Amino acid sequence: MLTGRLTNVDPALRHGWHPVARSSGITDAPLGVRLLGEHWVLARLDGRLTAFVDRCPHRLAPLSAGRVDGGELVCGYHGWRFAASGECTAVPALGPGVPAPRRARAVTPWGVAERHGLVWLAPEEPCSDIVELPEADEPGFDSAWLPTTRTTACAGLLADNFLDAAHLPFVHAATIGAGEGAVVGPYRVQADGAGFVVRLEQDVSNPEDPGVAAGLRPLVQRRVSTYVYRPPFMLRLRLDYPAAGMTNTILFCLQPEDVDATAVYTRIMRDDLGGDPTRLAEAAGFEQAVLDEDLALQEQFTLDGLPLHTDGGPGGGLTSGGGAVPEEVSIRADAAGVALRRVLAALVVRSAAARLTPTADIRHRTGHVRAEPGSTM
Ligand code: FES
Ligand SMILES: [Fe+2]
Repeated sequence: MLTGRLTNVDPALRHGWHPVARSSGITDAPLGVRLLGEHWVLARLDGRLTAFVDRCPHRLAPLSAGRVDGGELVCGYHGWRFAASGECTAVPALGPGVPAPRRARAVTPWGVAERHGLVWLAPEEPCSDIVELPEADEPGFDSAWLPTTRTTACAGLLADNFLDAAHLPFVHAATIGAGEGAVVGPYRVQADGAGFVVRLEQDVSNPEDPGVAAGLRPLVQRRVSTYVYRPPFMLRLRLDYPAAGMTNTILFCLQPEDVDATAVYTRIMRDDLGGDPTRLAEAAGFEQAVLDEDLALQEQFTLDGLPLHTDGGPGGGLTSGGGAVPEEVSIRADAAGVALRRVLAALVVRSAAARLTPTADIRHRTGHVRAEPGSTM
């Protein structure tokens, strides 16, 4: 067995779709963003969403300091112009019609996309598709974004926190965790796509149910939680409260910006608000309070990354750390977090193999982890 920690700048994370901005944040001006310790620039060129490494090939000036003009990105230093393909179409200092040097190309990522109101960037071939959001097409759901939150907590630990079933009575005593038992019963972790699905039932406080204030239903209610995880850091949580007949879906996606910086994108979708903007704002505020409780603890961790563990085997081990014993002690209630560690450990191992053998299929090889498909953990 090999051990290590997944930091926010692990090269394996280049093989993934990451949110890098809200779609609404891409205007007429280029936008500089950070991902995995690298700088990228986003722009719409002739209506086409484009991403380049944020470094002009001439004197390495940040292209995000330039401007968009005539469907091209113009460097602010000496005016070299770049088409959406990355091709340099003009070098003013050479004079009109003189071709650019052959190496004068802006570097593009494997992919850039817009989905669910977010801009996504994959530096290299991703190990998973972008997580689905079926509620976006279901009638009756109202949707709101929480403000994009920046935190010093690392993305791996935040993803683990989001999947954690046992922390509610302790971290969230002032919100969703009040009044419930601490016992986490057995639940299912099922391999699904390149990630997994977790389904569990718990008794939690549901203060947002109007039936509670009206005395129709108790505060503590059964909640069915369905977590869909896609690597590296895409999560969708659907919370069904059968007694109240309400559903709350949370899209939670993380942008590992740098070793000590993560951006958190949270979108809530509710089917019980009837389009009422005041109640939707209240729901977003409640979710923000829950997120703030999580971040207050996660920001106090002194780890540089999510502890991973995996068997060695062909293809190499993890990229950091050492020793043969996992750092953590896991129990049955941690099954989802253990599955997260296995998926990400497999990604680290397979991406190391892909660096050695560039033709390796990163998607296929990271898709099936030892998450005991269909097992009850
Ligand atoms: S540095 Fe960009 S044109 Fe010179
Ligand atoms: Fe939490």
